[in-house]
Amino acid sequence: MSIGILDSGIGGLTVLKEAVKLLPGEDFLYYADTKHVPYGTKPKDEVIGYIFNAVDFFADQGVEALVVACNTATSIAINDLRKKYSFPIIGMEPAVKPAVEKADDRRVLVLATPITVREKKLHDLVIRLDSEQTVDLLALPGLVELAENFIFDEETVIQYLLDELSGFNLKEYGAVVLGCTHFVFYRKHFIRVLPHEVEIIDGNIGTVKRLKALLESRGFDYSRKGSLEFYCSGEKEIDESKYRRYLELEY
Ligand code: DGL
Repeated sequence: MSIGILDSGIGGLTVLKEAVKLLPGEDFLYYADTKHVPYGTKPKDEVIGYIFNAVDFFADQGVEALVVACNTATSIAINDLRKKYSFPIIGMEPAVKPAVEKADDRRVLVLATPITVREKKLHDLVIRLDSEQTVDLLALPGLVELAENFIFDEETVIQYLLDELSGFNLKEYGAVVLGCTHFVFYRKHFIRVLPHEVEIIDGNIGTVKRLKALLESRGFDYSRKGSLEFYCSGEKEIDESKYRRYLELEY
């Protein structure tokens, strides 16, 4: 049986990459909703419809488990998805808890998409964890667009980050959360623009560890080599190089 990984586009590949490292014997189906990316700037109800279509696809494929490798989709649909489908579903939300712990009384900046930043799920999480009110939220939709267009040149990306972060006194910050899987591709660019004591935190490894723990009870066949298939809004992608070039990036 296979494991589904879902994102609006190529951001979830940063999760897939960790999953393949930790669970090399598994068969993964990666679904990029290329017809509807980006999710984060669209109306919530419209995006919920896209997410259910995608998960119907995984249900038809008979997946054993699904990782929603998208903070935006998790923030608006995870509870309803778990009600509808019988297979286990792992979601992702911005890693605010480790960030607050690591920031050590300094401020925390959570970066995500406009939907994630607006949604109650993130606000509730912040209220629970942030008694000192040191957490700020910022939407960076432009970074999703850059990643989808495979734009990683330092000049363009760093200028975008400097513009977006210009309103923040970064010296006050102890941690920055990459609360969108697309942003993880830009870790090196963030290192360039943030003061070096700022921790950069994402939830990818934690998510993959949760997947492993979920599968633990049925055991792992370590002699087996797993497989990888890519789907664009439900259609099998024949030209896998589109995706594989992202998996080869270092960040
Ligand atoms: N990769 C997504 C996330 O983690 C969403 C990006 C988008 O489609 O706006 O939130």
